[in-house]
Amino acid sequence: METLGGHAARQVLRLCESAGLSGTDSAEYARTLLTVLGPVAERSLDLPPDDSSFLSDDHTPVEFSLAFVPDGEPTLRVLLEPGYGAASLAENGRTGLRAVHEMAQRWGFDTKRLDELEDLFFPPSPQGPLALWCALELVPGGVPKVKVYLNPAASGPERSADTVREALRRLGHRQAFAALPEGDRHLFFALDLGHWDEPRVKVYLAHHDLSAAEAAGLSRLEGGPGPGEVASFFRMAAGHGTEADAADVEADTEAAYGAQGPGLVRRPFQSCHAFTETATGRPSGFTLYIPVRDYARDDGEALDRAVAVLGRHGMDAGPLMRSLSAVTARPLQDGVGLIAYLGLAHQQGRPPRVTAYISSEAYEVRPPAAAVASLTAAVL
Ligand code: TRP
Repeated sequence: METLGGHAARQVLRLCESAGLSGTDSAEYARTLLTVLGPVAERSLDLPPDDSSFLSDDHTPVEFSLAFVPDGEPTLRVLLEPGYGAASLAENGRTGLRAVHEMAQRWGFDTKRLDELEDLFFPPSPQGPLALWCALELVPGGVPKVKVYLNPAASGPERSADTVREALRRLGHRQAFAALPEGDRHLFFALDLGHWDEPRVKVYLAHHDLSAAEAAGLSRLEGGPGPGEVASFFRMAAGHGTEADAADVEADTEAAYGAQGPGLVRRPFQSCHAFTETATGRPSGFTLYIPVRDYARDDGEALDRAVAVLGRHGMDAGPLMRSLSAVTARPLQDGVGLIAYLGLAHQQGRPPRVTAYISSEAYEVRPPAAAVASLTAAVL
């Protein structure tokens, strides 16, 4: 019987090896993934997924990513939902908190900053699209760097802004909320926990209908990134360099799903604002995320976009291609969504990073956009 944990652990093992981690580290990280997932790892892939999870499109509670730097090997990361499959969002959150506390014990870090926020993000009857996710940066040595993602809408979507403001305030970032740009929704509130040089507090905003110029205007960093750099990333990743292509994909998607969808026709763009110090009141990090899967016909096209973006930043796309083959044997043209997002991250004092998010596809491969349209046409 194929299990969720078996599937994901095999992927992580192959990804670690292809990222050049030692055999010992790779095996250790595969075990860590199973530990953090807990009993859910044993879940048969024949059972339907927990469709309340939106960690990934097919509701796999695991997503991989690579963070590229101009000089050096990319870092492999994995995003996980420890409370996946819980009977309620409250239970999902409790399981998530337990998993984080177990990690803290195992790797010797403190969770004070998370514990201080518990009432805000874990009310008795939480609402919203998630309870707790965590991400691990699989650095050499077998001890990952840990990030925790919380849900600003936990106490109600209408309270999201207040929740974010209060959480920032409790962590000493009193002016941070006022420094954030406008957005359509607060999506995540994230904390770096454990062994970081400069642990960040991050606020993620959703933006619908963003233009390249508007995207470039979202950064609140002092001294960069240049608007040209952000706008060109936006165009390269979303394919807006060729408006005709974008219109085609949109027409195909709408033909398949209708303009209103079941669910979203296109996911919003996201911006992330990272705070590391409390003196200036300004963020020291800015990231823009493009849901490239909603702007490409298939993963071949998504990969082309990634390769172009990486090339533009002087980064080698080889590790991305190897990672895709480590995760799946399917031809890239046979689906869309293996590459879920492309991101461009700026952190003050460091070179920009390009991030690529890779789906596990444990449950499902989304058909290519054009194929969906013609399939619908055939059925009609
Ligand atoms: N799957 C969710 C989404 O598409 C959340 C998510 C997973 C996400 N990985 C991400 C959001 C990377 C931004 C970037 O929104």
